[in-house]
Amino acid sequence: MKNILITGGAGFIGSHVVRLMVNKYPQYNIINMDALTYAGNLENLKDVELKQNYRFKKIDITDEKMVGRLFGTEKIDGVIHLAAESHVDRSINNPLEFIRTNIMGTVNLLNSARLAWKDNMEGKRFYHISTDEVYGSLGETGLFTETTSYDPRSPYSASKAGSDHLVRAYFHTFGLPVVISNCSNNYGTHQFPEKLIPLAINNIKNNKQVPIYGKGENIRDWLFVEDHASAIDTIFHKGETGETYNIGGNNEWKNIDLIYLLCNIMDKELGRPEGSSEKLITFVKDRAGHDQRYAIDPSKLVHELGWKPSLQFEEGLTKTVRWYLENQQWLNSIVSGAYEQYYDKQYGDR
Ligand code: NAD
Ligand code: TYD
Repeated sequence: MKNILITGGAGFIGSHVVRLMVNKYPQYNIINMDALTYAGNLENLKDVELKQNYRFKKIDITDEKMVGRLFGTEKIDGVIHLAAESHVDRSINNPLEFIRTNIMGTVNLLNSARLAWKDNMEGKRFYHISTDEVYGSLGETGLFTETTSYDPRSPYSASKAGSDHLVRAYFHTFGLPVVISNCSNNYGTHQFPEKLIPLAINNIKNNKQVPIYGKGENIRDWLFVEDHASAIDTIFHKGETGETYNIGGNNEWKNIDLIYLLCNIMDKELGRPEGSSEKLITFVKDRAGHDQRYAIDPSKLVHELGWKPSLQFEEGLTKTVRWYLENQQWLNSIVSGAYEQYYDKQYGDR
């Protein structure tokens, strides 16, 4: 029996990782530790909450006492660390919260793991989940590899870069058995509707304008969230200690082209005349410091560990749209109060 701590398991990606681990590994105890910020939602885990090998702990990763105690009482063998502040626009409005959670929180977890495992690191693993945004912004060509120099340009990516450096420092300085992955943009079910794809789905459904920053020419490399979860499973079990793996599905899209595709799918799924959703597209003021292009070279993960993505983009996007349309209650419970305030601040009254 192994005791695996997953941080941020009530969030978008974390909930998919918890679901996969609980269902696939009945021999593991999965402990989900999450502070339940605006982005954390236990509704995401309704289907696994009663499983014998699953437990939830509401703890902030920056809480030294509670995190330290949990490592002792639960005899943690492995950590999959996803808890973070994750939205670039929010990091522009409130950088300090990102430093607190993403940097201080990560160091607190590293310290607790180090202390708990100090007598025997055998069989232990601290897996830190990071983003391709730490590498900065690409021009028209080239891909991010594991050796691309760090060049973060938003408070979010700078805080993730800081946490990556600290995780590596604990490997080199203290011999903590770490592994890191940096993934491209995720999409799929249960994503908070502040990020581009669920925000656009929700707005189109409600006949609200779809805000596109600048000219919509920025490029992102999109991966279905369940494929990210399967990559995390692969790296957690097969990755080399001290190594970094880039995760991506070779799926680059200009924002505006992605939104055209999404509008097309929405028209079909909602039974609206072709071209009606496109009319909602509205170009708005660009994001400050908006990175032009992200693109991942995943070949190390593919060749060394044998992982590959399972879904084509259009298939994944259609699956995602259907889930949001069938789960209006999930959306309604989120798109209230604090979300409305955030939305008005970010986009005016559009
Ligand atoms: P999310 O914002 O949906 O979820 C974050 C979760 O962390 C929430 O459940 C929240 O309650 C929890 N959390 C936040 N602060 C906390 C704290 N101080 N203590 C305990 N829990 C806290 O984020 P996500 O999109 O699921 O991203 C998860 C991880 O994956 C992050 O580390 C992010 O940097 C990384 N990542 C995300 C993407 C993406 O496209 N979303 C891509 C690559 C990497
Ligand atoms: P986002 O989903 O916030 O992810 P990230 O900034 O981490 O890549 O944004 C994806 C892209 O979509 C990014 O280029 C910014 C752009 N975008 C818009 O054009 N409009 C929006 O309302 C949002 C949220 C994002």
